[in-house]
Amino acid sequence: MIIIDNTEGIRRHSSGKPRVLVPTMGALHPGHDRLIRKGRSLAGKEGQLVVSVFVNPTQFGDGEDFESYPRTPGEDQSLCSTAGTDILFQPTVEQLYSEGEEAGIKADTRLTGTLCGPDRPGHFDGVCTVVEKLFSLIEPDIALFGKKDYQQLAVIRQMTRDLKLPVRVIGAETIREEDGLAMSSRNRYLSAQQRAQAPALFKALKSISENNTPESAARIKTARNMITSEAPLGKISYLQIVDRQTMQELSTVDRPAIAATAVHFGNARLIDNIEIAPANQPNAGG
Ligand code: PAF
Repeated sequence: MIIIDNTEGIRRHSSGKPRVLVPTMGALHPGHDRLIRKGRSLAGKEGQLVVSVFVNPTQFGDGEDFESYPRTPGEDQSLCSTAGTDILFQPTVEQLYSEGEEAGIKADTRLTGTLCGPDRPGHFDGVCTVVEKLFSLIEPDIALFGKKDYQQLAVIRQMTRDLKLPVRVIGAETIREEDGLAMSSRNRYLSAQQRAQAPALFKALKSISENNTPESAARIKTARNMITSEAPLGKISYLQIVDRQTMQELSTVDRPAIAATAVHFGNARLIDNIEIAPANQPNAGG
């Protein structure tokens, strides 16, 4: 595995081989391990697997955890190497951004009016900006993103279409702990008590997917009660059912949708979602 920390280096290493990119912010966990291994199998023997590790300042808002976001470069390097990475790209902020530069690419606002959009103004502009930079430097044929950030995936797909970028964006299933908690770098912020309550998120989302009532409000009410009673240390930021493609809120579950939530446990903001089939059709699973 080659480690590159600057933009000239990654450009120089452009090999002409098919490239698969797994963009991350580091603090890699077993969920990333699965994503990177999926990248390896998509790249095959001939292709090149690039993993980027970069904590992107423009996607963090004021008062968010940019400074304290976990950084574990040594562990990240060994996980990447074991999972079959060819190139680990770990640029500094100065390498990716010019002095004073802000998020330049605007996320499509039709996709950001729900879920994390209102909670985190400017967040998706920052994500689009850094992903576009990574795509233009690394020139991947395929890029892999986890479905845990479902709205992020929708926004990146849209940006890729709008900018006509020649990259196939693939979403990978969320990897969970045995008790259902979605794996996340932010789980390490949880106290033991908060950690014990956190599986209530996925339990509540599953209850939404298994409830066949067409009205979203009824499904959400039951799930909200479940989180409130089983995770009293959590503060729900949103719990919504939205169209899987447009991210528009649905009052009736009459098309493929997702149920998604964000819950704060102290400093830890956890998000999760589940794919749901239209009412009266078999569940799509999550
Ligand atoms: O999902 C993440 O880890 C980040 O938002 C991403 C896509 C690497 C952009 O910084």
